[in-house]
Amino acid sequence: MANNITFTMIKPEAVANGTTGKIIDMIIENGFTIKAMKLKQLSKEEAGEFYAVHSERPFYGELVDYMSEGPIVAAILEKDNAVEDFRALIGSTDPAEAAEGTIRKAYAESKAKNACHGSDSDENALIEANFHFSASEMF
Ligand code: CMP
Repeated sequence: MANNITFTMIKPEAVANGTTGKIIDMIIENGFTIKAMKLKQLSKEEAGEFYAVHSERPFYGELVDYMSEGPIVAAILEKDNAVEDFRALIGSTDPAEAAEGTIRKAYAESKAKNACHGSDSDENALIEANFHFSASEMF
């Protein structure tokens, strides 16, 4: 599956403010196929483990609190060149720098509350997909 899948989370503020459907529409309209999807609430432990790579960053505590404050929508997406194409679709981490037409330009509130996560490599896409989904939940 390498090069063909990526992992995303629609983040708590985007789920809470009702933009889940609009974000999923953008994902499908841009050629991604949904291979797995669920609404779930991360515990602080799960959020901390998922973002462990950022544990030394000054925003880590804030990130863990925010990502566990309400439900997220986790999904595995399939498309040729999925990781790179999805990162182009979500746009820059900071919505002030995100290009027109990207998910973050349309729906992110800030660098922290930035609507949507996208894996940064094929290797991490597989790790992140397996973090959230068992084999029987992938289609
Ligand atoms: P994401 O793509 O999920 O990967 C790491 C997350 O950390 C990022 O989106 C943001 O939600 C958050 N983040 C990155 N940089 C900052 C920052 N400077 N301040 C606060 N949160 C940040």
